[in-house]
Amino acid sequence: MSTTEEKEQAVADEGQEATEEIAAEEVHEPKPVKPGTWRFLIPIIAFAMGFGPHFLLGWVIFPQLLYGKKQQPIDFNHKLHVEEMGECEGCHFFRGDGSFAGIPDLSSCLECHEEQVGEHPEEAKLVKQYVEPGKEIPWLVYSRQPQCVFFSHAAHVVKGEMECVTCHGPVGESEHLKPYYYNRLTLYSRDIWGSNPAGYKKHTWDRMKMDDCAECHEEKKGIKEACFVCHK
Ligand code: HEC
Ligand code: HEC
Ligand code: HEC
Ligand code: HEC
Ligand code: HEC
Repeated sequence: MSTTEEKEQAVADEGQEATEEIAAEEVHEPKPVKPGTWRFLIPIIAFAMGFGPHFLLGWVIFPQLLYGKKQQPIDFNHKLHVEEMGECEGCHFFRGDGSFAGIPDLSSCLECHEEQVGEHPEEAKLVKQYVEPGKEIPWLVYSRQPQCVFFSHAAHVVKGEMECVTCHGPVGESEHLKPYYYNRLTLYSRDIWGSNPAGYKKHTWDRMKMDDCAECHEEKKGIKEACFVCHK
């Protein structure tokens, strides 16, 4: 067994740095480790180090990068207006030809908001920015499908006797409009593909992609599956 001094002498001409390294090795001999006392932590730490950042990236950062956010032009209180009018049909009705009127235009608000009736700042905005100049309100439609998709409310609500809530959720009971999120790549509303990054769906209205339309059509039976049923 050579001493530290002898070793140092032997490598002296190789420079100071190398010498110190070897010396350090000799002095700090690793102590034997009792296996099993802490090793079980390795996979847990490794998992946490891998999982943590990726979880954050996939579930928090990526959705924030992917989706843009817009506010509706004015807030709208469904609950208050449904109480005022007693039903949805005052604003969302089927026309004589069977087509669905969809989002009401400004004329259906004028009946009550020709002039400001209350103190609410959102109503003041409605009257100042839209009623007085006679400008339509540019509502953002959460459920808007891509242009290539054909959808008919008459087929579902009139013939199929389905409830609004099945596809839209409890919008009719809401007191505020939620923010509108859109996919920055496709520009489609987030509600089409759903807000859950894993595609997990809890309610029938959580998303309305092609598979979701098809899933219900399969269950109900008797609805043609061909592409041209939904794509014209
Ligand atoms: C006083 C008029 C009025 C009444 C009554 C009314 N709504 Fe609306 N509704 C609106 C307006 C305005 C919007 C536009 C907001 C928006 O862009 O979503 C809207 C939007 C909606 C939408 C969302 C469409 C989308 O995807 O953006 C649904 C669903 C809806 N209403 C359901 C109902 C139901 C169900 C009722 C009855 C319980 C009802 N509404 C009663 C005025 C009304
Ligand atoms: C049948 C009458 C009626 C119709 C039609 C109607 N409203 Fe109203 N609206 C009211 C009443 C009543 C209030 C409560 C006013 C108050 O006391 O502040 C109100 C309040 C509001 C407010 C402020 C309150 C809030 O919480 O946002 C907004 C904004 C509004 N209405 C928008 C609309 C729009 C947009 C339309 C057309 C799609 C419409 N209203 C159609 C009766 C009506
Ligand atoms: C089978 C599912 C389904 C049912 C039931 C349904 N909707 Fe829709 N709704 C949709 C889809 C899908 C769109 C998007 C249509 C598009 O972009 O062409 C839509 C769009 C809308 C819009 C936006 C304007 C438009 O017509 O594009 C409103 C408002 C609306 N629905 C209200 C209602 C109301 C009120 C009811 C109940 C009477 C109802 N919907 C029932 C699926 C449904
Ligand atoms: C929760 C169930 C349900 C969902 C979700 C649904 N549908 Fe339907 N759809 C029906 C039913 C039921 C009918 C048949 C109505 C009838 O004729 O009695 C139908 C009929 C249709 C028709 C007419 C087919 C024909 O034979 O004339 C079209 C087009 C259509 N759906 C498109 C869509 C699209 C696009 C979506 C998704 C954006 C969708 N549907 C989502 C239940 C659903
Ligand atoms: C029950 C209705 C339905 C049927 C049947 C259907 N689609 Fe779709 N399709 C949709 C809806 C809704 C979307 C938009 C939402 C999405 O991207 O999932 C879509 C989106 C698409 C897109 C992407 C378009 C875009 O702009 O993002 C393609 C491509 C497509 N469909 C092809 C097909 C083909 C091919 C068939 C026949 C095998 C078919 N679809 C049958 C409802 C349908």
